[in-house]
Amino acid sequence: MLNFTYHNPVKIVFGHGSIAQLPRLVPADAKILMIYGGGSIKRNGVYDQVIAALKRNPPAEFGGIEPNPRYETCLKAVERVRAEGFDFLLAVGGGSSLDAAKFVAAASVYKGNDPWDMMSNWARVPADSLPVGCVLTLPATGSEMNGGAVVSREETKEKLFFNSPHSFPRFSILDPETTYTLPSRQTANGVVDAFVHTTEQYLTIPADAPLQDRQAEAILLTLIEEGPKALAEPQNYDVRANLMWCATQALNGLIGCGVPQDWATHALGHELTALYGIDHAQSLAVVLPGMLRQQRERKRAKLLQYAERVWQLCDGDEDARVAQAIERTEEFFRSLGVGTRLSDYDIPGDAVGTVASRLEKRGVKLGEHGDLEKKDLVKILTLRV
Ligand code: NZQ
Ligand code: ZN
Repeated sequence: MLNFTYHNPVKIVFGHGSIAQLPRLVPADAKILMIYGGGSIKRNGVYDQVIAALKRNPPAEFGGIEPNPRYETCLKAVERVRAEGFDFLLAVGGGSSLDAAKFVAAASVYKGNDPWDMMSNWARVPADSLPVGCVLTLPATGSEMNGGAVVSREETKEKLFFNSPHSFPRFSILDPETTYTLPSRQTANGVVDAFVHTTEQYLTIPADAPLQDRQAEAILLTLIEEGPKALAEPQNYDVRANLMWCATQALNGLIGCGVPQDWATHALGHELTALYGIDHAQSLAVVLPGMLRQQRERKRAKLLQYAERVWQLCDGDEDARVAQAIERTEEFFRSLGVGTRLSDYDIPGDAVGTVASRLEKRGVKLGEHGDLEKKDLVKILTLRV
């Protein structure tokens, strides 16, 4: 097992009715700005629950955060925070509202010229970033229990992230009932995103870490069981609860302790979303099967373990088992209604070269060995046309 440091300070408050606990979680004298998206919380009653819970300390509001939150919109929130002196940000919604809140929390006290440098130049996220709390309505990103934030800049068509210990939410309220109103597309997206967070930390190279392996396999197996049920029975509380906890566990750092990590599927996916506007999970469903096929020799030992323990493929030729496990993964995504080919989203074939070149220019080391080159990226995406 590799060395690691693990610290996760996020308080999780889980279960139905838990939004009512907000007054105990937000400091009594806080000046709160509530940050939310395009209005789903007003249609499904979550907004009313938050306002009712905070009636003694009503929050001001900043709505209109887009899916794949935009830097330009976040800057407008930063202006309000600075002008009106808010000292607590409450994100209510999916990963986009929460990531926007984390970025605004940091950018509002950022001392440099351009807070985008926290994304593009690894400039430090301020240690005195404003505190953020969260009411999550979409299980997918794990943002509710990590220090990551992903923001898109319209002007340059970039989608970049920071990950900082100063950006953990103080608390996250996870009430599975808030997810009953998710459109099927977003429910499926959440399952795929959590699945790929897990594979990024599991389908790499063996590190003699059987506990982390089995934790990852538990998440994958649960997603495979519960994902289709959530689509069939959107108001099944236990199914929604299981999915919500899976998504949190997939990216709260625990399964990544002491093991090599990949994240190249996410890096390619972010470029696809930035350029062609597809949903985050759609981009992952496109890239992952190509990544696993192209990298199958280097990931061979873990792919065989995955084939056996997740897809019960135990007999026969090893190459065939690996190939079948990758096929089953792609079939699973498709069975949820998530397209797995560039053509499913009308993305032209020349995207392959464009995306690979953009990623190469970023100069980031990709893959668990940190050595994927442009030619590898081209091969991976060419498999997905
Ligand atoms: O904007 P509203 O009106 O709220 O509607 C949203 C949005 O249209 C809707 N929605 C959310 N909860 C709902 C609901 N509709 C009905 N009922 C509900 N309960 O769903 C749509 C998508 O919401 P969004 O927040 O964009 O989705 P998600 O949670 O998948 O977040 C995606 C963003 O998170 C980033 C992605 O790249 C993308 O920008 N990620 C963040 C990570 C992190 N911080 O750790 C890691 C991930 O890998 C990912 O990159
Ligand atoms: Zn993701």
